Amino acid sequence: MHFTLTDLVTDITQNAVEAGAGIVELEVSSLSNESDGNGEFRFLVKDNGKGMTEEELKKAIDPFYTDGIKHPHRKVGLGLPFLIQTAEQSGGGWDIKSEKGKGTVVTAWFDSGNFDTPPLGDLPGMFRTILMFNSDAEIIIRRKKLGGENTVLSEYEVVKSEVIDAVGSLEDAASLVLLGEYLTSLEND
Ligand SMILES: Nc1ncnc2c1ncn2[C@@H]1O[C@H](COP(=O)(O)OP(=O)(O)OP(=O)(O)O)[C@@H](O)[C@H]1O
Ligand SMILES: [Mg+2]
Repeated sequence: MHFTLTDLVTDITQNAVEAGAGIVELEVSSLSNESDGNGEFRFLVKDNGKGMTEEELKKAIDPFYTDGIKHPHRKVGLGLPFLIQTAEQSGGGWDIKSEKGKGTVVTAWFDSGNFDTPPLGDLPGMFRTILMFNSDAEIIIRRKKLGGENTVLSEYEVVKSEVIDAVGSLEDAASLVLLGEYLTSLEND
C-alpha cells in the first residue's frame, strides 16, 4: 500500500471537521538538521468539536473497533489506529488529548530518516484539499520549517475565511487554480 504523510494529516483533519468543530487549527512543521542529516516531520490538529470521553477515545484508537456509523460494512476503523501504527513503526510517536464536549488535540511526529516513514507527499495540495472540505468551520493552517536547535527558517499561516475573501468561492475552478498557485508559492518561498 502506498500512502504519504499528507494522507494521514488529511484524514486526521477530516475527523476534526466531522466532529462539528467551529475552529480547526492545523500545525505542520518539519525539522531538517543539516549537521547529522536527521529530520522530523510533526503535525498537530486541534479542534473544538464534540470531543471524546476516555472510553470513546480508547475505542477510537483500537484498530479492531469501529462505531459502524460511517462505514457500516467495514469491520475496523482506519484513521487513528493507522496513524498510531505508522508513527510507532517509524521511530516517531503520537499524543491524543480529548475532552467530551470541548474538543480534541492530535499530535504525531515522524523520523524523516527512518526507512519506514512514509514519503511526505504534496503539502500545498494537501492544504488546498483541507481548505476545500465542505464545512463552515474556520480552518487555520500554520506551517513552519525549522533548522538546527529549532530555529525557524520560514513560516506562513493560511486562514480559510481570509482565503475565501481573497479568491471567492472555493467551488469555482478558476479560484482553485489560483489557490493552488498561492499555496505552492508560500511553501516554496
Ligand atoms: N477529532 C475528533 N473529535 C471527536 N471524535 C473523534 C475525532 N477523531 C476521531 N473521533 C472518533 O473516533 C472515531 C474513529 O475515527 P477514525 O478516523 O479512526 O474513523 P472514522 O472517522 O469513523 O472513519 P474513517 O475511516 O473514514 O476515518 C470516529 O468515528 C469518531 O467517533
Ligand atoms: Mg476518520
